[in-house]
Amino acid sequence: MIDIHVLPDAAAIGMAGADVLDAAVDDGARVLGFATGSSPDRVYDELVRRHSTSPGPYRDCEIFLLDEYIGLPADHPERYVTVIRRAITDRLGVPPERVHSPEVDDTDDPVAAGARYDAAILAAGGVDIQLLGVGSNGHIAFNEPGAALDGGTHRAVLEERTRRDNARFFGDDIHAVPRAAMTQGIGTILRARRLLLIATGAAKASAIGGLATREPTTSLPVTALHLHADVTVLIDADAAREIDDTRLRSMVRVHRLVARE
Ligand code: GLP
Repeated sequence: MIDIHVLPDAAAIGMAGADVLDAAVDDGARVLGFATGSSPDRVYDELVRRHSTSPGPYRDCEIFLLDEYIGLPADHPERYVTVIRRAITDRLGVPPERVHSPEVDDTDDPVAAGARYDAAILAAGGVDIQLLGVGSNGHIAFNEPGAALDGGTHRAVLEERTRRDNARFFGDDIHAVPRAAMTQGIGTILRARRLLLIATGAAKASAIGGLATREPTTSLPVTALHLHADVTVLIDADAAREIDDTRLRSMVRVHRLVARE
């Protein structure tokens, strides 16, 4: 089932997302999948607000990232492992050695590196709950349109649109945005026991509209979520704009806490 909740604003999404994660961790989740990009920021801020004085169970969690750029120096501030430490894990008291991302340095064999990452996730017991954003072109992690719906962690070439979208993290210079990344495959992502996708803003409306109404297709990777049994989607009214309620797929429910425009 895919439950799409249309919430009033980013603050409400932050609260709802933090509620879902807190409940999962209270329930015993210890392997968490965290996502970069700005979509989950309010959730991270809310978790820190709730837990920074007594970080509690998050300190004992293993954290797996979705992806990592290829080609950035180890000390670059936009390395995703650095971004996640800054945004959430350091603030929750998670020791750095528990924060994992795909290997990108000195790997002349990305296939083996990808397999090692998938094996590490399995060895940790599998991801209990995976946070996700979505790209304006429908990508999840760095699985661009055309990516296999059952792939493992692999090297991916980024679309120009993705690099343009992410240029804001690189001083608005698209040339500074890496051209490739190691990313969990869609198959890896679908093995997580639960998925929590967050999207805000009109730039995500077409991807979310497609998620609500289209069958799984490699041309819109986010539609692969139909192949998972337990998906929660938290969005704002702008991201909900292209959901056509008359064409919803059978396993999709839309819960509107804000009236349609
Ligand atoms: C990047 C990440 C994705 C993320 C997407 C959306 O490309 N690899 O995991 O979902 O950006 O980012 P944002 O949330 O900033 O819109």
